[in-house]
Order: sequence, then C-alpha cells, then structure tokens
Amino acid sequence: MVPVEVRGLVKRYGRVLAVDDVDLTVERGDVYGYLGPNGAGKTTTLRILLGLIRPDAGSVRLFGRDPVGEGARALDDVAGFVEEPAFYPYLSGRQNLELLGTLDGGSPAVRIDEVLELVGLPDRARDRLGGYSQGMRQRLGIAASLLRAPQLLILDEPANGLDPAGIRDMRALISGLAREGITVLYSSHLLGEVEEVCNRVAIVDHGRIVFEGRLDDLRQSFGEHHRVETGDPERALAVARASPGVGAERLEGGILRFEAESGDALDAFTVALGAAGVGIRSLTTERATLEDLFFRLTEGEPAEAAA
Ligand SMILES: Nc1ncnc2c1ncn2[C@@H]1O[C@H](COP(=O)(O)OP(=O)(O)O)[C@@H](O)[C@H]1O
Ligand SMILES: [Mg+2]
Repeated sequence: MVPVEVRGLVKRYGRVLAVDDVDLTVERGDVYGYLGPNGAGKTTTLRILLGLIRPDAGSVRLFGRDPVGEGARALDDVAGFVEEPAFYPYLSGRQNLELLGTLDGGSPAVRIDEVLELVGLPDRARDRLGGYSQGMRQRLGIAASLLRAPQLLILDEPANGLDPAGIRDMRALISGLAREGITVLYSSHLLGEVEEVCNRVAIVDHGRIVFEGRLDDLRQSFGEHHRVETGDPERALAVARASPGVGAERLEGGILRFEAESGDALDAFTVALGAAGVGIRSLTTERATLEDLFFRLTEGEPAEAAA
C-alpha cells in the first residue's frame, strides 16, 4: 500500500484557492519535502491529509484508507501535526506524553522512554513544558506522534523558528526516523532546510505544484547559463540568433547571457563570434543554485501578496 496518494485535491477559502488541483504520491521509505513560500497552501494540504479539514474536491488515500472520511487519528499507521503541537505548559514533557498516551488508549512507560530517547529529550523530560524552547516543543510533538509507532509521519514546518543548530538537530532527527523505516512527509518554506534530507520534493506556489521529483532532476532541467562579454554586443546577439542550439539575451554593459543546448553548440557559437570579427573579452559559466531555482519557480514573492 502506498503511504500517500492524493489526486485532484482542491480547497477554497472564499476567493482564495488555497489548494489547486494537487496530485501527490509519497512512496514507502521516502523523506518527502513539501516546499513552498508562505501562503502556498502547505498547511492546508497537510490538514486535509491529517483529516482535520475537508477538501472541496479530490481524493486522499493513506495506505489505501481515507483520512477525510475516517480522520487520520483513526488510521493507526499515520501520525503528525500541523503548525505547533498543542501541549499543557504546566505539565512536564513526560506528563504531556502520558496524558496523550492515555487519550489514545494507554502507552506503556517503556514506550514513552523510547520516544523521548529517539527525539533526544530524555534529560529534560521532567521539566515543565512552559520552559521548553521552540525546538524542544517541536521534538516533543514528534515524540507524541511516535507514541503510535506510525509508518507515516506528517510534519508541518518542523524546523520553523529554530536556530541553525536546532535546524541541524531536526534534520538529523528526521533522517534517523527515516532510517528506522518511517516514511516522512514534511513541509518547509526553505529549500536549504530539506535539501540534504529529502529524496523527493514537490514545490508548491499559489496552491499549485510547479515541480515534483528529485532535486537533482530540478537542477538538470534548468541546466547552465553562460555570459559572454564582447566589444560589440549588438553583433554578438545577431550571431547568437543565427547559431543553432543557442538562446541569448542582452544584459547591461555589453554582456550577452545565453544558453547552449550542447558543448558543440557552445563551441560553434564562439567560433562564429570570432569569424564575425567579434572579440571575446570574457566567457563565464554559471550554474543556478537550488535556491535560485526555487525562487524562480515561485517567482520569489510571497503568495499572499499576489493573491
Ligand atoms: N482557515 C482559513 N480561512 C481563510 N483562509 C485561509 C485559511 N487557512 C488558510 N487560508 C489561506 O489559504 C492560503 C494557504 O494557506 P496555508 O495553507 O496556511 O499556506 P502555507 O502553510 O503554505 O503558508 C493562504 O492564502 C491563507 O491565507
Ligand atoms: Mg503553513
């Protein structure tokens, strides 16, 4: 059974299309990143998956079962939380877990010790939750989810608001859970945060998926750009237009920015420049970083602003 199969998911809030025809497949063993700027519809999608709200259209199957009809809490293999996990501040971390375990039909003390160990909280488990840092609360939230020994963990921006060390710890925790055989679907608005952890990602913008696949494929699909600086950009552009497999645009300062579909096309273009009497002052190659690609795909603007 596939951990997550979402088809044609739609959710509207008034005139805002928060989730716009989303398809999503998460395979067993994936650490799947659901990426997008603020307001892209990540939390809304994960809320639907967790059975907390109903979609306007589309279907969701988690291990073949329907969280919309049953509520994800009814699905033994699934756990997670959106935004901030809710706890009692005046109880200790451990007491909070005991209480949640009781509500869920009882969790043995050894299991509570186990999950506290897994998330790296055993030393602080007897302290009142009110004194926890945000990172500790997030980790306790994951511990609470793990009480049910889920096969699929759904987490909404678990690294949000953490400092760099906290983010590193969260990454290590998620990787560790994946090694234990848990499939993880988690959201983030920062590509850098998921880059080393996720094997697959979906990038969402204004509710729509704009890329789905491996980050390596995303890098490949955008390829490289070159810049050539010449004394005669006008003529250089004309040469580029006449060169097969080369696409160019003129930038400020006599620079031409171009793509070449192959090394041969690049060679032919530079030779053609020389033959046309255009001297090359410099030629540089730039590879887009993943962060560039992410911003290009999502237009680098908050979705809210454009809605
Ligand atoms: N309960 C709600 N009522 C009205 N609008 C909402 C509600 N929840 C989300 N939205 C809107 O839906 C869009 C997606 O929100 P959300 O899923 O929270 O995005 P993300 O988690 O990616 O930041 C936003 O425009 C947001 O304002
Ligand atoms: Mg959100």
